[in-house]
Amino acid sequence: MQKRKALITGITGQDGSFLAELLLAKDYEVYGIVRRSSSFNRGRIDHLHQPSEISGLRLIYGDMNDSSSLNKALRTVKPDEIYNLAAQSHVRVSFDIPEYTGEVTALGTLRMLEAIRESGISPRFYQASSSELFGNTPEIPQHETTPFLPRSPYAISKLFAYWTTVNYRESYNMFAVNGILFNHESERRGENFVSRKITRSAARIKLGLQDKLVLGNLDARRDWGYAKDYVEAMWLMLQQDKPDDYVIATGESHSVRDLLDVCFSRIDLDWHDYVEISPHYFRPSEVNHLMGDASKALRELGWRPTINFEGLIHIMVDADLADLQANNKFQDPNAGELEYQRAAR
Ligand code: NAP
Ligand code: GDD
Repeated sequence: MQKRKALITGITGQDGSFLAELLLAKDYEVYGIVRRSSSFNRGRIDHLHQPSEISGLRLIYGDMNDSSSLNKALRTVKPDEIYNLAAQSHVRVSFDIPEYTGEVTALGTLRMLEAIRESGISPRFYQASSSELFGNTPEIPQHETTPFLPRSPYAISKLFAYWTTVNYRESYNMFAVNGILFNHESERRGENFVSRKITRSAARIKLGLQDKLVLGNLDARRDWGYAKDYVEAMWLMLQQDKPDDYVIATGESHSVRDLLDVCFSRIDLDWHDYVEISPHYFRPSEVNHLMGDASKALRELGWRPTINFEGLIHIMVDADLADLQANNKFQDPNAGELEYQRAAR
């Protein structure tokens, strides 16, 4: 029997790497779109990328801003399923580069949906929608019918992509779905998102590599889950009889302060001794409280999270400590601190 084929945009990101692992384990042929970069950007999928005949993973150069590369990818791969995970995904950075964020995150999705229409094939399409769509809605918890109130160029771009996905489903009868995923993290999370910035810095502080951690708003509350659980939900959405949109969340919310408590007590330190607050890390407009209600996903997909908040932060800080120790990154206590602090937004 022919293997099913999946095409993933954003395969080099956190979710793309976990999703590729999941689909390879399910015996898919997995194709990933990668963009050219001057420095190596495949660290998260290196372990999967043995000779493609063995691993089943193939990478194709392309870009969400380049329609012809998307058209060509569809023509050559003819995928059964497409997971559109590519985005400029950092909310704070989207205020600095709003136009670019819109190009990749909003119009990139439109380009992919048009490419599907032009290709003459009928793959199932997953769109990486976000709890950021809810912004500062007064409704808590948020579910599929909660009104959207986006608060950043990133969220507004995702709003365009969300409605474009719904519109292509309704207008052209496409199997196109939105996964409205709340924050999900892991040991592979980008180092400038708050969870990983904290776990990485805490591990560095523990090993004497860093002596302070500079953060912004500690009162923001998020519903944080484990990325590996969340990619399973993406796959489940494309296996249903009917296309529909689903909230994926743990149903619990915690503040950044709670995250600091759990992380630093894991390594027997008191974060108050190390954390400083800088206006630099505040956003022009903040999303205060996100907490999701995933009961529809539980009912219809049979999906539920397996890792709770505390377990997630423990996985992350343990992995950061182990990585720093294994790679001898702790031998020169002064090396890289300034550089690290600058890079971590
Ligand atoms: P991520 O780690 O930032 O990965 C983003 C991916 O998009 C990377 O592979 C990146 O490639 C790729 N990309 C960026 N611009 C591109 C372009 N112009 N053309 C092609 N590829 C491009 O994000 P993530 O956390 O895995 O999230 C995956 C998706 O889910 C994103 O769309 C994000 O907005 C959305 N989402 C995430 C969360 C969350 O909490 N993680 C929650 C809800 C929704 P490079 O490696 O080359 O940069
Ligand atoms: N990044 C960052 N850096 N955030 C900080 C800092 C800091 O130094 N200090 C406090 N925060 C606060 C932010 O103001 C925000 O309220 C919260 O920590 C979480 O920030 P991020 O981890 O950057 O994530 P996000 O919630 O803005 O966005 C992530 O989740 C969305 C889903 O809700 C991203 O993954 C988005 O792509 C995703 O859609």
